[in-house]
Amino acid sequence: MTASLLNGKQLSETIREEITQETEGLKQLGVQPGLAVVLVGADPASQVYVNSKHKTCNALGFYSEVHRLDAETSQAELLQLIDQLNQDKAIHGILVQLPLPKHIDEKAVIDRIAVEKDVDGFHPISVGNLVIGDDSLLPCTPAGVIELMKRNGIEIAGKHAVVIGRSNIVGKPVSLLLQREHATVTMCHSRTSNMKELAKLADILVVAIGKPNFVDRSFVKPGAVVVDVGINRLENGKLAGDVNFDDVKDICSWITPVPGGVGPMTITMLMLNTLKAAKRIHNV
Ligand code: GUN
Repeated sequence: MTASLLNGKQLSETIREEITQETEGLKQLGVQPGLAVVLVGADPASQVYVNSKHKTCNALGFYSEVHRLDAETSQAELLQLIDQLNQDKAIHGILVQLPLPKHIDEKAVIDRIAVEKDVDGFHPISVGNLVIGDDSLLPCTPAGVIELMKRNGIEIAGKHAVVIGRSNIVGKPVSLLLQREHATVTMCHSRTSNMKELAKLADILVVAIGKPNFVDRSFVKPGAVVVDVGINRLENGKLAGDVNFDDVKDICSWITPVPGGVGPMTITMLMLNTLKAAKRIHNV
């Protein structure tokens, strides 16, 4: 068996076309979705992500603001900017790029973002809504994982999904979304003693552990769907996922490439959240 590709780049293009069309309609009602991205300091990877978000906003017809703040910016100054963006009528989504410099308390910053503009889905109220199953702005990477499977016709209901990694950004929320889609979910993490045995039971294996090429074919049940959320920069400068793609590709049914799998979906889901936030704020 050679796996089919879960092509996030291609699907992103399709969804972005849909967003562009919907945005044109919204603009005729006088609403232009607006996203503010805040970057503190000059972390190279964060700069690439922030620039990419800005470019994507422009391509879709959104209003976009990028606030680049000095690494020495105080927490009070950052909170003041968030207060200002919370009040700003042109802004429907606020994203503070993580990680923040050590002197700033990440939780205090996330908590300050108005829930209706929390397009990252990281605010405790957004997370609570996700747990309960209420409508909320969903965290982008987990939402992208689910969309990638659904739009490729992969059945989730009734399947056994195993998630490797329990981060607040990916592992925990993706397991909740998989449950919402009626999967039976097992979570594994760095302290799981029999990870390989559990992973081998998975119909759907989602890997978000942040270790390059961690998962090889000995973790994978033949015919499983393998979703690799990892993006690791190797010493030779190349990107590697958490899954050893070449080792696994001929025993699973579907697999995400890295790059070009989950990565492009994350930004696309951010745009979808911004559109959703704008529609809700304006009741359209
Ligand atoms: N840094 C890495 N991933 C993310 C993300 O999804 N959101 C934010 N705000 N920062 C990040």
